[in-house]
This record gives sequence, C-alpha cells and structure tokens, in this order.
Amino acid sequence: MVSASLACSKIRYALISSSHIGNLPSREKVIMEQKRFKRRVMTVIVACTLLAAYASTVRGAQKSSPPHLRRQGRATQLVVDGKPFLILGGELGNSSSSSVEYLRPIWPKLAALNLNTVVIPVYWELIEPKEGQFDFSLVDELIQQARKHQLRLVPLWFASWKNSMSCYAPSWVKSNQQRFPRSQDKSGNSIEILSPFNRENVSADASAFKAFMRHLREVDSNDHTVIMVQVENEIGMIPDSRDRSAIADRFFKLPVPPELTNYLEQHKETLIPEFRTVWAANQFKTRGSWEEVFGSGPGTDEIFMAWYFARYVNQVAELGKAEYKLPMFVNAALIRPGYLPGQYPSAGPLPHLMDIWRAGAPQIDFLSPDIYFPNFAEWTRKYQRSGNPLFIPEVASGPLNAVQVLYAIAQHDAIGFSPFSIESIAEPTRSLVAAAYDLVEQMTPIIVENQGKGVMAGFLPEGAEQRVPQKVSLGGYTLNITYERSSSSSPVLGAQAADSVSGGLVIAVGPDEFIFAGTGLVVTFEPNSAGAPIVGILSVEEGKYVNGQWTPGRRLNGDQTHQGRHLRLPSGRFDIQRIKLYRYR
Ligand code: DGJ
Repeated sequence: MVSASLACSKIRYALISSSHIGNLPSREKVIMEQKRFKRRVMTVIVACTLLAAYASTVRGAQKSSPPHLRRQGRATQLVVDGKPFLILGGELGNSSSSSVEYLRPIWPKLAALNLNTVVIPVYWELIEPKEGQFDFSLVDELIQQARKHQLRLVPLWFASWKNSMSCYAPSWVKSNQQRFPRSQDKSGNSIEILSPFNRENVSADASAFKAFMRHLREVDSNDHTVIMVQVENEIGMIPDSRDRSAIADRFFKLPVPPELTNYLEQHKETLIPEFRTVWAANQFKTRGSWEEVFGSGPGTDEIFMAWYFARYVNQVAELGKAEYKLPMFVNAALIRPGYLPGQYPSAGPLPHLMDIWRAGAPQIDFLSPDIYFPNFAEWTRKYQRSGNPLFIPEVASGPLNAVQVLYAIAQHDAIGFSPFSIESIAEPTRSLVAAAYDLVEQMTPIIVENQGKGVMAGFLPEGAEQRVPQKVSLGGYTLNITYERSSSSSPVLGAQAADSVSGGLVIAVGPDEFIFAGTGLVVTFEPNSAGAPIVGILSVEEGKYVNGQWTPGRRLNGDQTHQGRHLRLPSGRFDIQRIKLYRYR
C-alpha cells in the first residue's frame, strides 16, 4: 500500500512537471494544454485508485486465507497471515483450560515467557454435554483471552481418545456402551477405550468435531488466532497390542484393504526402513489377511490397529476440514526401549508406523512426537523422515528446552516447539525458555528465509558429542563445535542450571559468513572447499535483530575470540554473533 501510493505521487509529480506550459502560449494552446493536463491527472488518479484497491485486496486475501502449510525447499512452513510462522509454544496441563477463572492469572505469565502460541486442550464432553447441543462459550473465552494477550492457539481435540483412554468422551457416550462399544481385552472384559471399529463411535466424534471447526470458522476466520488443530491425543492400545473384541477379530481376519497395499506398493522404495524390513520379511506380499501379509505377533496386531485408528481419525479430520481447513496433526506417546506393543500404547503415530498412518489418514498433515525421553535429537531425527514436518507439541519441561528449541528449528526446520505444562514451569527453566524464545523471535525472518535450503544446523550435546567436538560441514567450512559448561554465577541460568545447558544454531548467510546463536559454544573453523589452506577471522560482531535487521553491538576481535582463533558464545547467556572468515597461506 505504502509503496503503491508513493509510486503514484511520483507519477503525479512527473506529470505535473512534464505538462508545464512553455513561454507566452496562445489562448487556444493554453486551453488545449489545460484539457490534456486534466485528462492525464484523471487517468493517474483512476490508475492509482485501482492500484491501491488491488494492493489492499492482495493484503486482504493474505489475511483472510486460513493458516496453511507450504513447502520451501526441503522444509514445510506454517503460513499465518501470509508469513511463515514459528511456533514458540507451551502446552497447558490437561485440566487448566476447563476453567476460565483458573486460567485468568496464567495468560499474562505465558505472554511474559515470550510464547507466541498456547497449545490448549478443548474437551468434547464440555462442548457437547448433550447429544447435538453444543456449548462453545468456553472455547470463545479462550480465544478472547488469547487475543487479548497476543497469543495464537493450537487446540487439542480431547475426544474419543486421550492417552489411549476415552476419558473425555461425553457422559451420554460413556454411559451407552451398547451404542458406543468399547475395546476388549483377551478375557472379553471391556476397557474404557472406544472401539475404532464402530461406526457410531466415529460418527459421534466426527459430528462434534465438525461443529467445533464450523464454530472456529465463524468466530476466527478473520483473526486466525487458531492456527492448527491436533486431532485426539496420544492414540494407542494398552495394555494389549490390539482390540480383542468380536468385531475387531472379524476385521483382523479380513484381507488387508487394497488402499493400504496399493500405497505400500507405490511407496515401496521410500518406506520407513524399519517398517519395510517387516514387510520384506514376508516377501512384500500384497494379498491376504493381516497375518499373511505381515506375519503373526504383536507387531502385526499393531499395524492392524494403526490402520483402523488412522481411518477413524481421517474421518474425524475430513469432516472438520470440510468446515474449516486448518492444518491438522496427531501426536504419539513414544516407546520405552525394549517394550513391546501393548506394553507401550500400541499403534499410535510412531516412527515405524508412519507409512500406515500416512496411507490411512491422508487428511492428517503430519505426525508429531511427545518427547519425554532424554534422546531428544534422535526422536526429532526420526520424525523428520520422508517429508514429515517436525512439530513438537509436548516435550518434558526443563532447562534443556532452551537449547532443544534452537536445535529443532535449525537442524530439522521444525514448525514449532512446546514444553508440556507450561503454566507450572519454575526457575531456571522459566528464564531460559524466555531468553531462547526471545532469540528465535528476533531471528524469525532470517530463519524462515533460510528454511529448507540446507544452510542451517543445530547444536545439541547429546551422547558422544558431549566429549568430542561435533563436526558440521556448512558453507565451504567444517565447523568444530565444543560445548562449554556454564558457571554458577550465570545471570540467566543461575546455579541450579550450571553445567547443564549449551547448544544453539548456525545459519550460513553468505560466502564466508555465518550467524551463530545460542549459549555455551566454542567454534573453530577448517576449510572444506578449494582455496588457501588456513582460515582466519575477519570480524566477529555480537548483535541483535531489530525488525529483522541485524543491529551490531560490540566488535569481538580480542580476548572474546581468543585473538581471532575461535568464536565463542559464553555460557550463562543467550547471544547472537555474526562472523566473517577469510583464507590465507
Ligand atoms: C502426555 C499427554 O499427551 C499429556 O496430555 C499428559 O498426559 C502428559 N503425557 C503427562 O506427562
């Protein structure tokens, strides 16, 4: 808009100057010139009005197109109001959003943590307390409060399943077992887990979700406070590997549906390796019962359940998207090493079942991990495979969150990050997360510009990297990263977090030039491309991004870089530094 009107005033000025009448004109000439001048001015005014209207339509369209996903290189970005958005989130504890009063004092605390998004439960039982009668007053209040605090929302649809169980199903569902059957164990006992094989179950959930999404469209399609939706929560069978009810047994004996076998055949070469191995052991069979195609045992029970869970969720998501097409995802409870399906929630959207979930639930845009184990980097790696965009809706809260977020965003182009029970975090996690989120917020324009282009890397000391330098090859150099320990006098980390937090990210922003951000890192450089063999430092600046522009602070070419030998992001604080290198003999 601004540039459109600027262009117009320049044109007007040029026209006025070019129409200047020469010396001592005749009366007719003056009248003619005046008419021509008026015509030109009118033309310019009409053109400018049209241009301005067009610019505002384009902006309006950007604003009014709902949040959506788009590819940039190898990355998938979440686009909100026309711009890629990084979710700096926190998930509320399960019950916090069931009471407006309970949550009221929490909102300002969330905003003070530099969150831009709250991952927030919404509850089928409260939305549809009586069948067909919907109450969105709680949802509306959550949206109002979020707007007041300039926060976006990612609702979690707690409905048929929440951590395997059906505890959030309305009482009219729970108490009518005849109509809404449960899964059963081997002895024929029912479990409070709605059976995914029953039409009444899925259609009741899907119509409630449809009403929820319709309501979101009605109240939020201009504001986009709600940016994505999680469908159900940590789906999975436990304590058995599959539903043993009569109807489940009947489905288990049927042939594997051709929708699945066709998908597997079409994607045979790119299937997730651990799943491909299972299918390969059965000679890539495409016809027969589940046991004939995949062998017998808990692994096959799990594949079978994953398919039917995925079909169910797909139907719920499909009806919801038909009302309001927001990105939708499902989340998984991960596997404790050595556990079998049923000992962990069997058949959730786990890494080895990604292909089954993809084939069964094409309406689901991506699968997400809830990371409560210490091998954070490994799980993030597994969830970025075969084009799955990484979003971490839950991670165990703690000081490491501050570096995990930098790592996930830079190393795996993550859409976002969100520690669990964010309202209960205490120091030093609180200050650490706030500092790291501030850093990412400053750098968002440069990060999103570089996503998917292979010019970013994340640093997280996990396993062996804690002791030996981590090597990263980027921009024609090998970067050797060592991790420092923080001192107990740290102004940000405090004594409690001493020696626990280091990590960060790097972006190669130009020839011989990098931006580093994080804490507790020392980086040396070696050449990794043709040219002179020794690498020197031309300059290191610390600084900030203000409105997306680099704003330098101190020049650090003395002690702070060991007189040009390395780059160092000291422990105990979160910094951004820009380094320029050169080569010599
Ligand atoms: C994972 C679940 O998804 C959350 O809703 C919550 O129950 C946490 N576990 C508790 O650790």
